[in-house]
Amino acid sequence: MRPQPMGTITVTAPAKVNLHLEVLGVRPDGFHELAMVMQSIDLADRLSFRTTADAELTLSCDDPSLSLADDNLVIKAAQLLRRRSGLSELGAAIHLEKRIPIGAGLAGGSSDGAAALVGLNALWGLGHSSADLERLAAELGSDMPFCVAGGSQLCFGRGELLEPLPAVQDPLAVLLVKDPDVSVSTPWAYRRCRELQGDRYLQGEDSFEQRRQVLRGMAWTQPIRAAEPPPLRNDLQSVVAPETPAVQAALRLLSSLEGTLAVAMSGSGPSCFALFADPASCAAAQTKLDHQLAAEGLRSWCCPLQPHGVRIEA
Ligand code: C5P
Repeated sequence: MRPQPMGTITVTAPAKVNLHLEVLGVRPDGFHELAMVMQSIDLADRLSFRTTADAELTLSCDDPSLSLADDNLVIKAAQLLRRRSGLSELGAAIHLEKRIPIGAGLAGGSSDGAAALVGLNALWGLGHSSADLERLAAELGSDMPFCVAGGSQLCFGRGELLEPLPAVQDPLAVLLVKDPDVSVSTPWAYRRCRELQGDRYLQGEDSFEQRRQVLRGMAWTQPIRAAEPPPLRNDLQSVVAPETPAVQAALRLLSSLEGTLAVAMSGSGPSCFALFADPASCAAAQTKLDHQLAAEGLRSWCCPLQPHGVRIEA
């Protein structure tokens, strides 16, 4: 039976931070083998999807700096989903309200792509499960499968092999800091990491699996708590920071704050964040840093942790 398309739906697409990003080694496919803990945060883009009768896939956005062409993960996701459905007559007009900074290490583009898979699956009545959508997402980007379900997850492989972690119990929040004029190329960051740290990489699947087992056995498999904050780690930080003054400035300012549980860069940067026990202390720290952030040309966001990824709005 042909799926029954719906009229219009809206999906929120939250950003993520990396609480742990460990580069284990190089894979036979040339990508890096990673061991990560990813965490959704309450800083989200919003996408609306409307059926069209003309089999066209169109994307509009309130941020003129974003490419709306075939290289946008929203368009790539829509094309892949339609191709796999075998229903070439399906069309959609998609509008993106961009709130997550672009090229920031916060998986904004990946989350938008994941939202397109979830939104169009519902709009076109295709009936794919979350697991199906995560498999499709993995074809488009390493961070995209995480963004479908989101929350707190261990992410292995290229980042696409997911092991959900217990939901965070305490009302933790992050203060995000980013220079609006600086972005970091993810391929560059991994290439540079290999140049600088490649001689220390683990070799082979057995040693990768041993390291994954260590992470599974660490505190990560317990709910994250303010009383015992997790030790943040990002192996790309020592690669990106020395060549990115905006990362150095963000880390310096965040590290000067009292009451932070930990400070780190997210993904391949340049966003950095400090973890706080609750949104009130996070907001107080943001106010305290206000002048210094402005003087350095940095923007900031106070974001509670969020227990889920993309969501269709009621
Ligand atoms: O999968 P994604 O498009 O996000 O990856 C962007 C680039 O980052 C890849 O082309 C690759 O250069 C690098 N990368 C990597 N290892 C990973 C993920 C990304 O080397 N696990």
